[in-house]
Amino acid sequence: MTAQIIDGTAIAKSLRAEIAEEVKRWQSQGRRLPGIAVILVGNDPASEVYVRGKRRDCDEVGFHSNVQHLSANVTQKDLEDRIQTLNEDASVDGILVQTPLPEHIDEDRIIDCIDPSKDVDGFHAYNIGLLALRRPAFRSCTPKGVMLLLDSIGIQPRGLDAAVIGASNHVGRPMGLELLLAGCTVTMAHKFTQDIAAKIRLADIVVSAVGKPGLVPPAWIKPGAIVIDVGITRGGNNKLYGDVQFDAVKEVAAWITPVPGGVGPMTRIALLQNTLQAARQRQTD
Ligand code: GUN
Repeated sequence: MTAQIIDGTAIAKSLRAEIAEEVKRWQSQGRRLPGIAVILVGNDPASEVYVRGKRRDCDEVGFHSNVQHLSANVTQKDLEDRIQTLNEDASVDGILVQTPLPEHIDEDRIIDCIDPSKDVDGFHAYNIGLLALRRPAFRSCTPKGVMLLLDSIGIQPRGLDAAVIGASNHVGRPMGLELLLAGCTVTMAHKFTQDIAAKIRLADIVVSAVGKPGLVPPAWIKPGAIVIDVGITRGGNNKLYGDVQFDAVKEVAAWITPVPGGVGPMTRIALLQNTLQAARQRQTD
């Protein structure tokens, strides 16, 4: 079997066009355009690339975006005060603090400061809690993007066995909750998991979110499975690598995402959708 390649770039393009259409409708009704505020701290080149991409997406669909680029020496208090100001700014629908943050900043406390009704990243404990309670509000962008990908290729997850590799707060854990909410039986694999191959090989859907190039070999994959690669690591040659041994795994799987051009563009779509959702809620409150 040779897997069908899931073209996240193309799927994202058509979803972005839908969002742009909706923004045009808002504009014709004289409504305020959705707006997102992004805080970028320091000069991490990867973060700068991500933020530029988010800004470009906002421009393309007609959202306002405002990026505050702060020095790596910013204090915890200054960052918290800035978030408080954005929480109180009625023209801001969504707030995103780009991670990673410098070592001296307590990232959990920063996320706690964001008004949950503006938490378009879906990172706040309140939004993660709602997802765990089957009452999703703002869903974390990468897991939501993966669910949009599955939907766009016509997969009905209910009753399927799913495995998530990696249990991070921003991706692995909410990914497991999303798949559970969609009716999958979910295995979470992490660094303490024993005989990982035997466990992953039972899964109809495998999502790898570790950030270790080449981690997932074909021997871990059940023939005909759907393989979603969330890992993204920049090599010394500046090339991007996923977690999955793409060329070999595609000979076993039924569907597979490439890196780049798989999940990445869908994470950005989820952010746009969340921002639209936040704006809609603020304007109907
Ligand atoms: N760093 C890498 N990806 C993301 C993201 O989706 N949101 C935030 N806040 N930081 C990131």
